[in-house]
Amino acid sequence: MDVEFTRAQRPLVCVLGGTGFVGHHLVNHLTEHGYRVRIPSRRPQRHRELGVLPHVELLEADVHDPQTLSRLVRGCDAAVNLVAILNEERPGDFQRVHVELPRKLVQACQDAGVQRLLHMSALNADPRGDLSRYLTSKGEGEALVHGVQDLEVTSFRPSIIFGLGDHFFNRFAALLRLSPFVLPLACPRSRLAPVYVDDVVGAMIHALEDRRTIGQRYDLCGPHAYTLQQLVEFTAQTIGVKRLVIPLGDGLSRLQARILQHLPGKLFTYDNYRSLQVDGVCRQGFPEIFGIDPQPIEAIVPVYLANQTLRARYDQFRALARHEY
Ligand SMILES: NC(=O)c1ccc[n+]([C@@H]2O[C@H](COP(=O)([O-])OP(=O)(O)OC[C@H]3O[C@@H](n4cnc5c(N)ncnc54)[C@H](OP(=O)(O)O)[C@@H]3O)[C@@H](O)[C@H]2O)c1
Repeated sequence: MDVEFTRAQRPLVCVLGGTGFVGHHLVNHLTEHGYRVRIPSRRPQRHRELGVLPHVELLEADVHDPQTLSRLVRGCDAAVNLVAILNEERPGDFQRVHVELPRKLVQACQDAGVQRLLHMSALNADPRGDLSRYLTSKGEGEALVHGVQDLEVTSFRPSIIFGLGDHFFNRFAALLRLSPFVLPLACPRSRLAPVYVDDVVGAMIHALEDRRTIGQRYDLCGPHAYTLQQLVEFTAQTIGVKRLVIPLGDGLSRLQARILQHLPGKLFTYDNYRSLQVDGVCRQGFPEIFGIDPQPIEAIVPVYLANQTLRARYDQFRALARHEY
């Protein structure tokens, strides 16, 4: 968008989950593209770097409270939902976060007269699927928002997303550094097509400005597919550590999931194992409508993973310990 906006003219977008990995990138791109952004967070004090950005309003808020949600979206030109969890702390969390929250958000949008909603789903999300609760609940949330009349919804269904601050390569980098000599890897043959975060948020911003995307659901993948084992070996090579990545068979993969899910941090759960039983690859290339030539991991990951400062490595370990990956 090459129009110069004054503050009052800038369209306002409320980004739920704007403090997360994708959220940081999306918020930066939105402000660069002439938007104002409102970000509710449970712990805004952890994300002061966002609060100081021009045209960004960072608020402490409970997005699960319907009245709070209505106040948050009031006056906005669009809402974006990026809130999700990979694992449940308590039974029912997937339902609450992936299904009930979207239900409350569409209601809040309708009450406040907000017509445009971008919803972040996930590749292979399917309300009728019988793999993982993560994918089923994400599918339920996606189906729900597209079933609402008078709301202009676009959904995004990415494979694993990579980029500065990602959960995938940073997590494996930390695990590889912590592993003494070997890393036993569950589901080594699962295939994934990692997609660059800037390509994902580029598609989202394009969608805000292109009405042809309304009602559509877009699978988003990077240009190449890899096995999980190849991706972990690529990570080891990129950070310059020599570890033997030992591929576990199916029985041992299940066993690893069943043990690790009971340990603090839930590094790998049985639900994660179930998610990996379906390949995270797209049937088609990056949707042409966005005019984006998606970046491969080889062009981007070394830029933020190789030659990391000690501070960056410390942050990586801290995120692992805080269960943020
Ligand atoms: N990262 C990937 O590889 C990937 C792949 C496919 C799809 N996706 C989808 O992309 C979206 C963003 O992912 P991400 O990696 O950016 O996630 P993330 O870094 O974990 O961020 C999630 C955000 O949601 C908020 N949040 C988490 N749990 C919440 C809860 N119980 N109640 C309210 N807010 C909560 C957090 O905000 P506060 O802590 O500030 O409140 C955080 O900003 C998600 O929908 C995810 O399913 C991600």
